[in-house]
Amino acid sequence: MVRAVLNRREWLRLAAGAGMTLLVRPAHGEDPKSGLQRKIPSSGEQVPAVGLGTSQVFDITGGGSEREAAKEVLRLFVENGGKVVDSSPMYGAAETLVGDLASELGIQRKLFIATKVWTTGRQEGIRQMEDSMRKLRTPRIDLIQVHNLVDLDTQLATLREWKKAGKIRYLGITHSRDSAHGELERVLKAGGMDFVQLNYSMAEREAEQRLLPVAAEKGTAVIVNRPFARANLFGRVRGKPLPDWAKDFDCASWAQFFLKYILAHPAVTVVIPATRDPKHLVDNMAAGSGRLPDEAMRRKMVAHLESL
Ligand SMILES: NC(=O)c1ccc[n+]([C@@H]2O[C@H](COP(=O)([O-])OP(=O)(O)OC[C@H]3O[C@@H](n4cnc5c(N)ncnc54)[C@H](OP(=O)(O)O)[C@@H]3O)[C@@H](O)[C@H]2O)c1
Repeated sequence: MVRAVLNRREWLRLAAGAGMTLLVRPAHGEDPKSGLQRKIPSSGEQVPAVGLGTSQVFDITGGGSEREAAKEVLRLFVENGGKVVDSSPMYGAAETLVGDLASELGIQRKLFIATKVWTTGRQEGIRQMEDSMRKLRTPRIDLIQVHNLVDLDTQLATLREWKKAGKIRYLGITHSRDSAHGELERVLKAGGMDFVQLNYSMAEREAEQRLLPVAAEKGTAVIVNRPFARANLFGRVRGKPLPDWAKDFDCASWAQFFLKYILAHPAVTVVIPATRDPKHLVDNMAAGSGRLPDEAMRRKMVAHLESL
């Protein structure tokens, strides 16, 4: 079992720094759809803490029921207070579909678009990012991240120029494997990173050891990918009932159990579960409302999952 990294005092200090409220219901009269918000440390801008991933699920060409489902997911995402959508040129047709659907739904201005650069060479990076802007149908992308740290120094140099020129608002780096955490940490410690995107879930808790505390210390916003370990977590709980005590932190499904575990970490800014199922989208968005588990409850959640 992974040791608890934070003691209570450290936890409360981080939580206060992240503008977090633990174990608090939405105030009476508060719009339940406004959901949990988190601050981007480098700017102070608030964003909804539950975002949307697009890998595989938005890689659709042509019409048909899959496209309609993706459209409904995006519509419901915004209707339920969502904003941060994460894509990449690596995800096939996903950027194009996000751009097309956002335009059809008239919601472009309501989204915070995060995408990535995933290639080598300065000119090729620029060409790819210009391509992303065309596909996403926007003259300005909120966040571009160096995907899997590919050609990091070259792409970061361009991102810094683009940020200065106002073509992007934030820059960052991503990876999704524990083996890359050392390198992510090295880059974070060098400073100047608005966002880091990393793998973190109840199935992959390595980030708790060093990366999440380092991100908090450096004032870097954290986007969490693979929150369900690409659906593997659902396999582990199939046919098993939610423990009764899950209602103590307003949790009504296994998806919310997995997402609230992540959202309760004070270093986490946004979690980006991917789905093309409108019912799953609504389920996931509900993780951004109601109470969150505290550190003792999170330990109980891990022990429970490991006992199944
Ligand atoms: N290196 C990188 O930068 C990197 C790497 C990995 C991922 N990412 C980003 O992170 C996002 C999320 O990670 P991921 O797509 O790998 O995996 P994930 O979000 O952990 O899991 C997605 C899977 O979970 C299922 N699912 C979603 N909500 C559910 C619910 N409420 N109940 C049951 N099943 C549910 C989805 O199927 P349904 O469609 O049936 O709901 C889908 O198969 C990606 O889409 C991408 O944007 C980035």
